[in-house]
Amino acid sequence: MIFDTHAHYDDEAFEEDREELLAKMVSAGIGGIVNVGASVRGIRASQELSEQYPFVWAAVGVHPDEVGSLNEETLQWMYELCRKPKTVAVGEIGLDYYWDKESHELQKEWFIRQLKMAKETDLPVNIHSRDAAQDTFDIMKEYHAGTTGGIIHCFSSSAQMALEYVKIGYYIGIGGVVTFKNARVMKEVAAAVPLDRIVVETDCPYLAPVPNRGKRNSSLYLPLVIEEIARIKDLSAQEVEKATWENAHRIYRKL
Ligand code: NI
Repeated sequence: MIFDTHAHYDDEAFEEDREELLAKMVSAGIGGIVNVGASVRGIRASQELSEQYPFVWAAVGVHPDEVGSLNEETLQWMYELCRKPKTVAVGEIGLDYYWDKESHELQKEWFIRQLKMAKETDLPVNIHSRDAAQDTFDIMKEYHAGTTGGIIHCFSSSAQMALEYVKIGYYIGIGGVVTFKNARVMKEVAAAVPLDRIVVETDCPYLAPVPNRGKRNSSLYLPLVIEEIARIKDLSAQEVEKATWENAHRIYRKL
């Protein structure tokens, strides 16, 4: 069975056929999905999906682009949701200096407060970092290393940085990008990170793997990601599938 550690089935791209698509998952070998919150609306929708489908779990968190909408009251509400049985992680949280929608100070403040929420509710984290590799790593090291662990989602920095994260207790999320022809660094990351620290993810509807690049992504395409990791590591797809499934359960320990 394959475990998708990071998906956004609440996205409007799934408006037309969400139920039909999710109904296919288990028979297609997709045994579990974590629907990750990115906004207040996304958090609510993730909770609903996790209540509706036995194989869907929820992560509670606000993406750095959206932290301007946070206040003490929403934070309190998030703490309560973290204690629900089907909430398995805090995420996606982090820093995004590419879109730079909120000031770096505000992004850092809410990143740290959500890391604290993860510690206090004993949940692993799901980290988003774009064009902010050093600041993200420094904050993780200072405020979170050695606590509840987590996944560096859609990892996009160097293989060396990936190994630094592994060293301080994190897992690396690999998705469709690893199949792109020009994704040299991602292929290096897949080669360098030990198999027991890799999980697979879609980030759907984004980042569909080759040959579906540019189309709407879904967990049904994850075998393409697994095959590419297997090719790079010279293993069988079955070995990669089994390991990433076990890894997902080790890190998302409320599953
Ligand atoms: Ni995402």
